[in-house]
Parts: sequence; C-alpha cells; structure tokens
Amino acid sequence: MIEALEWQWIAARASGFTAYGLVTLATVFGLLLSQRWQSRRVWPRLINDQMHQHVVLLAGVFTAIHGIAVWVDPFTKFTWLEVVLPGISHYRPLWMALGIVAAYLGMAVVITGWLRPKIGYAWWRRLHYLTFIVWLLATLHGLGDGSDSRTAWAIGIYGISSAAVVGLTLARLLRPAGSRARSMPGWAGLTSVIALGGLVFALLGPLRPGWNAIANGGKGSGSRLATAVLATNVQAAYSAPFQGSVTQQGPDAQGVVTLSFDLLVQGGPYGVMTLTLQGTALPSGGVALTGSSLALGTPAEPGLYEGGLAQLNGGRFSATLRGNGLSPITVVGNLSVDSSNNVQGIVQVQPGVTQEGTGSGPDGGGF
Ligand code: HEM
Repeated sequence: MIEALEWQWIAARASGFTAYGLVTLATVFGLLLSQRWQSRRVWPRLINDQMHQHVVLLAGVFTAIHGIAVWVDPFTKFTWLEVVLPGISHYRPLWMALGIVAAYLGMAVVITGWLRPKIGYAWWRRLHYLTFIVWLLATLHGLGDGSDSRTAWAIGIYGISSAAVVGLTLARLLRPAGSRARSMPGWAGLTSVIALGGLVFALLGPLRPGWNAIANGGKGSGSRLATAVLATNVQAAYSAPFQGSVTQQGPDAQGVVTLSFDLLVQGGPYGVMTLTLQGTALPSGGVALTGSSLALGTPAEPGLYEGGLAQLNGGRFSATLRGNGLSPITVVGNLSVDSSNNVQGIVQVQPGVTQEGTGSGPDGGGF
C-alpha cells in the first residue's frame, strides 16, 4: 500500500532538490551580477538581471510544489497548519521549520524587489542581503530534514552549491567590483566561520549514520531510506503512538478470517508496523485465533523485526520480535479500531526479551 503512494515522497524530494538548485543558482547569479561578471561575447549575455529574476520566480514555483508534495505525503500525514507554521510539525520540527522560514524570507525578498521604487534603493539592497539567510536556511533544512542527505549525489549537490556560494561571497567581500567598492575582511572572516561551522555540523550530524534516528530527539525519526540503511539495534526503551487501518479477508472456504493492520509509528527509528491475525469463524459470531504475526521495520524493509504475538487481550498485545543480525526486542501495545476501520494506539518497544513478550501465545483466544 505504501509503495503505491510513494510518488508524493518522490515528488517532495525531487522538487526539494530542484528548488534548492534554483535558490543556489539565483544566489550565484546575484553575486556574479554584483561582481559585474558579464561577458559581452557570451551570447545572449546569459547572466543578466532578467535571468536572475526568472530563476528566482522558478525557485518560488518549485518551493510551492515541494510544500504541496510534502503536505500530501501519506507517510508523514501533515495537517495544512504544520506545513505553513514553523515549529509545530510532529515530524522533524526544527529542520522543517528552517525550510518554512526560508520560504517566507524568500517571499519577502521577492516582494521588496517589487516595492523597490517605493522603499528606495538603499533599503532594497539591505533587505536583499536576506538572500544569504534564505540560502543558508535552505541548505541546513535540506541536509537536516532530507532522506537523501547521505547519498553521494546529494552530498555532491550540497558540496558544489556551498563551494559556489561561499567562494563567490568571499570574492565579493574581499575583491568587490566597482571603483567605489571597498573590501570587507571582517564580513569575509564571519562568512568563513559560518561555512566552517556548517561543514562541521554536516559531518557530525546529517552525514553520519543514524542521524534520522537522533534528529529532533526521535520526533519523526521514522524516516525511510536512512532507517532502511541504519537497521541498528534498539538501544533504549521508547513508546510511540501509531495509526493506520485494518482490512479483513475471508472467511474463506475453511472459515478462516485474516485481519491485516497496516500501521505507521510516529517515533522511534522504525516507522512501519504490520499486525496480522488469523482465526476461524465461530458459530457464535466470534473468531478463534489460530495464528498471528507482528512486524516492525521501515517502508523499504517492513519485516526488519518479526515474531508471533505472545498475548492478545482486547486491544492489548505483546510479542518478542527478532531481526536478522539484530538483538531481540519486546513490543507491547494497545490498539483500538473505530467503526470506519481506522486503527490507533500506542506501542512500547524495549531492547531484549522481557516477561511481557513471552508466553504461550494467544492461539485459542478470541477477537
Ligand atoms: C526555500 C525553500 C525550500 C528549499 C530550497 C527546500 C529544499 C529541500 C531539500 C533539498 C530537501 C531534501 C530532500 C531529500 O533529501 O530528499 C528538502 C526536504 C524536505 N523539505 Fe524542503 N525546502 C524548502 C522549503 C520547505 C517547506 C516550506 C517545507 C514545508 C512545507 C519543506 C518540507 C520538507 C520536508 C518535510 C522534507 C523532508 C522530505 C524527505 O523525506 O526527504 N521544505 N527540502
């Protein structure tokens, strides 16, 4: 089910990188223009004010597409308020907030461009420096929030973009074009410190394995690619809410009924939980449980941890789950199903095998 809906996620990532490339290009064009780097020989003098403005507008269009794709992504299930108000997202709140603020500041820069005749050149120019903040926030947002940050191609995009923007900014500050322009070594020093800080942050944070599990204190760490690669042992107990839906198959010719619960866990490193219950229909109307399985993992590897239920009592369940090359974990949860077959509940995951996860199994119980 999740695979069939992956296009929103692909659209979010593709438009995110396109927007980022365009924000970088707009910044680079602006810097080249201010350095009067225009060749009369290059037809049609590609880097000019108009081109700069077109790139800015295109960046706005792709940022809007990115925001919408993120909003409709069924994995994260954002409300519309979460995608417009910085900091309230249930998923990677800080890193998402940086993207939202970057988008608003970008809008402010564009609007001050339109208002230039009213506010005057000096104010327009001052406000235009916000562009650097927009680019910096977009870079930190992409690195910190993105699922692709650790791939070679993403590192290439962030690396080339940063080298271009930082290099041209330093050139602009140390060797500005124009007879009246003066060099600003203090600002160049600050730029170098920020660039170095950014590099250290990237190396110690988003580019290290496990970043998605630790970013935001575990909030929204049910990331996809990163956790698929990560597959580390659960180090400490945690509990997280989950939600999803249940579908029923059967009863078949033998009277066997299968209930499949597809659940998304909001917290902890493993975002996908699947519970399957099998039973035979009883003449009294109930179902006698004959088999069960619980799996915890990522969308790429939903069956990373697997095991049968040890207990099922009302909505309460427990199990010991095992994964290939991973230490066993005990999972204890509580779920409820509403009349539309929507499921929600809370799950506790602990490293190791505890009393709760063991037992004779629920077979013979009812549901
Ligand atoms: C200047 C504006 C923005 C730029 C340049 C930008 C760029 C990016 C980039 C490059 C990524 C990394 C994608 C990946 O690693 O696959 C990303 C991820 C993301 N962005 Fe933005 N973004 C911007 C604004 C926003 C806004 C306004 C929102 C909120 C609606 C947002 C939400 C997200 C989310 C949730 C992700 C994580 C997607 C994933 O799972 O990889 N971004 N963004």
